[in-house]
Amino acid sequence: MDKFLIQGPVQLKGEVNISGSKNSALPILFASLLTNELIEIKNIPKLKDIDVTIKLLLTLGVKIKKGKSLIINANNLYKNYILPKKLIQSIRASIWLISPLLIRFKKIKIYLPGGCSIGRRPIDLHIKNLKKLGANIYIKNEFIIASINNRFQGAYIFMKKSSVGATINSILAAIYANNITIIENAAREPEIEDLINFLNMIGANIRGGGTKKIIIKGVKKLTGGIYTIMPDRIETGTFLIAAALSRGKVLCKNTNPKNLDILFKKLKHVGAKIKIGKDWCSLNMNNKRPKAIDIITGPYPKFPTDIQPQFTLLNCIALGKSIITETVFENRFLYIYELIKMGAKIFIKNNKVFCQGVNLLYGSEIEATDLRAAISLVLAGCIATGITIINNINYIDRGYENIENKLINLGARIIRLKN
Ligand code: UD1
Repeated sequence: MDKFLIQGPVQLKGEVNISGSKNSALPILFASLLTNELIEIKNIPKLKDIDVTIKLLLTLGVKIKKGKSLIINANNLYKNYILPKKLIQSIRASIWLISPLLIRFKKIKIYLPGGCSIGRRPIDLHIKNLKKLGANIYIKNEFIIASINNRFQGAYIFMKKSSVGATINSILAAIYANNITIIENAAREPEIEDLINFLNMIGANIRGGGTKKIIIKGVKKLTGGIYTIMPDRIETGTFLIAAALSRGKVLCKNTNPKNLDILFKKLKHVGAKIKIGKDWCSLNMNNKRPKAIDIITGPYPKFPTDIQPQFTLLNCIALGKSIITETVFENRFLYIYELIKMGAKIFIKNNKVFCQGVNLLYGSEIEATDLRAAISLVLAGCIATGITIINNINYIDRGYENIENKLINLGARIIRLKN
């Protein structure tokens, strides 16, 4: 894996273009398997997870023309066979192959998905919902084995836990189902709304995206069309926090500030000045040290777990004490041990982190453990005194497009050491 060598401290200042959303692009790409007609997807971020998804689609026989956008034709798929383990297990999103492939092939055998090690990440809700929709589905050794009789059957589904992934798989399964499907306690993440907008654009009949009750009326046919992926709200949040923790000033362009309310509220409490436009937002810290603020993560519209490591770093160097509570994933604090090596005064107890802000962090040699941990450590390196070396930095390429150049444009001093 590559390393980053970062010389700090710097104040991050300037403008950054936000890329398309990873967590929206991934399900939309898998959903392209549901239509035989041509679709064009714009604003696809250039990321490792997207490369893997494209490879999976190509392996299935999908034709893809790569340019500024992706033109996708899933008209002819190769006969059903087992997709390579390495591809399937290098991303979590491969779980969204289940419903489209069942619709296409009626019978599948597919490796269990992979993804960042941030908790146990079970798939029981996916399986339970697909069973309700008429699939015969079970896990055997490292495989998911499933079949349907001709088509999925519409059903009433109540999700005991609001899971993004399971909500998406259920929506995809219900697209062509006979009768109506109702998903109660559905996840409300904006990326799900984006997927629904895409599916409705190509002829699906789905209502209630962004609410707890999603209603899907099965259709006979989907068409083609052109769709633009929403901007990445997690990337936007990351750059705003980068400005706040370096006492700098950053303008995020080509974004959608509407879905970051909770973060804006927290950043205002920290002492930041925030401005919001239609497709931009900016944060100015006016050289001030941020104030420590408690956060509790939760499903949307609560504080995003994907911004927890970045905000925890901010609390590490803020004035005062704070408590960070992680309620979504049970193992999302591995990076804390690396921040301690850099001088952070912080300890973990169960699903909480107790933090006493320090004035300075110090450069050190540290390890990235997952995607969002990696960006938190990179930002720590930017504000720390001296040189920070971050090993296993490739995690960051899964979810941040062109990250070192975006940060270098804001004043960071980063070199990538290729392995
Ligand atoms: C997605 C996002 C991830 C984000 C997360 C929560 C993608 C590719 N990933 O992950 O970046 O951090 O949403 O916003 O979009 N759970 C179960 N059983 C299941 C499924 C989930 O118990 O069958 C649990 C999980 O362990 C977790 C919680 O539900 O504790 C939420 O997980 P979920 O919303 O499904 O996250 P992902 O879809 O994996």
